Amino acid sequence: MVLAALVALQPGCGGCAKEPTYPPNFSFPARADRLVLKLPDKPAPKPSTAGQRDEEVAALDALGGVTRDPAALPAQPRAELSTFLEAAFGTPADPKDVSEPLKLTVPHLQEGARLYKRHCADCHNITGDGRGAKSGQFLVPHPRDYRQGAFKFVTSGEGAKPRRADLLRTLENGLKGTGMPSFALLPLGERDLMAGYATYLAIRGEVEFAALKALATGARPDLPALLKETVSAWEKAEGAPALPAPPPDGEPESREHQEAVRRGHKLFVAKVENSCVTCHEDYGRKPVLRFDVWGTVSKPATLTDGVFKGGARPEDLYARIRYGIPSVGMPAHAPPKYSERDVWDLVRFVQSASKPKDLPPDVRAAVYP
Ligand code: HEC
Ligand code: HEC
Repeated sequence: MVLAALVALQPGCGGCAKEPTYPPNFSFPARADRLVLKLPDKPAPKPSTAGQRDEEVAALDALGGVTRDPAALPAQPRAELSTFLEAAFGTPADPKDVSEPLKLTVPHLQEGARLYKRHCADCHNITGDGRGAKSGQFLVPHPRDYRQGAFKFVTSGEGAKPRRADLLRTLENGLKGTGMPSFALLPLGERDLMAGYATYLAIRGEVEFAALKALATGARPDLPALLKETVSAWEKAEGAPALPAPPPDGEPESREHQEAVRRGHKLFVAKVENSCVTCHEDYGRKPVLRFDVWGTVSKPATLTDGVFKGGARPEDLYARIRYGIPSVGMPAHAPPKYSERDVWDLVRFVQSASKPKDLPPDVRAAVYP
């Protein structure tokens, strides 16, 4: 048993007997879980529960949300959608070229599919729906459902798709405080193939989701246009400008840095609409639970813990605050309301919030009364 687990974790055991393969003639099943069309507009009453994802989504209607069962949508356009998806994407064992610039071409996808099945599918599942029957059942936050094309930890802009480099950072470091592990021990080339395969599943899933959503509102989706739009959003993210370098604010104990922390704290607790404290109440010790685009529940980070899923470097925090995390409703902080300096001040405060000795005395007294 232990030996089998070790063998399964060995990278690159190309021809080994334990190599997971896809059943011959296996096709992606049509999406059968409920579509979330509208979220309730109040805070979530309780956190997500492991293994209860579909039940959580089904409960949204009673709370003022709107969900739909895809099976209740007109059958003919759904059959056309399945035909279109198979023609455009193929199957896991026989994928089709999706994008040259994104390296989503047959040889990459074939190899990516194989590695993904071994390292990712237990949690993210074969379709990328995040409902892996093995480990996926036991985790909160739930493993990510890629099929809405929504990702949290991006550096490419507000509401933008992740760059490949963003996915690779997630695979290298894992997402701290969640079940998403680090894959730093695998060769970079393998990580890149798996990130590419996750992108392929995300594009396929988003086209399917957008088409079903259109059908649910009585519209007739233009499938080739949806495909083109989705692929080009991913291609565009690769060319987005790099993040700016952090300003030289000195060491945490320097006057300059302390002033930046003080200004950041003031912005954090400001009594304005949608300021940080409205969600990260008591600096996140009393987080206001939010429904996210998947219809599950996200918990605003507890900043006094200093655990950041998307990384703790100043530039990581800059990207989170400047561009927001749209899938969980965390807003972007952009000019004219927030200057670049404001965003860096917030970064300096967030960096120091878990280290009382780095806070100026007045701020320390407010955060640690
Ligand atoms: C043990 C379970 C587990 C395994 C194995 C796993 N993941 Fe995850 N993954 C998660 C969880 C849980 C999350 C969601 C964390 C969250 O949203 O807070 C996640 C999130 C992600 C995200 C979303 C990042 C973002 O920016 O929003 C990506 C991409 C991802 N995983 C890719 C992969 C790939 C590729 C593999 C295989 C190499 C993999 N994961 C293996 C559990 C897992
Ligand atoms: C509308 C609610 C909301 C507002 C307003 C909000 N956040 Fe968040 N924030 C969230 C949620 C929800 C998460 C958790 C995302 C996740 O992990 O799934 C989060 C996560 C974070 C994280 C952790 C990122 C990581 O890598 O784990 C930081 C840092 C953060 N917020 C800072 C801020 C700051 C600073 C402000 C104000 C400028 C702010 N937030 C405003 C809801 C909000």
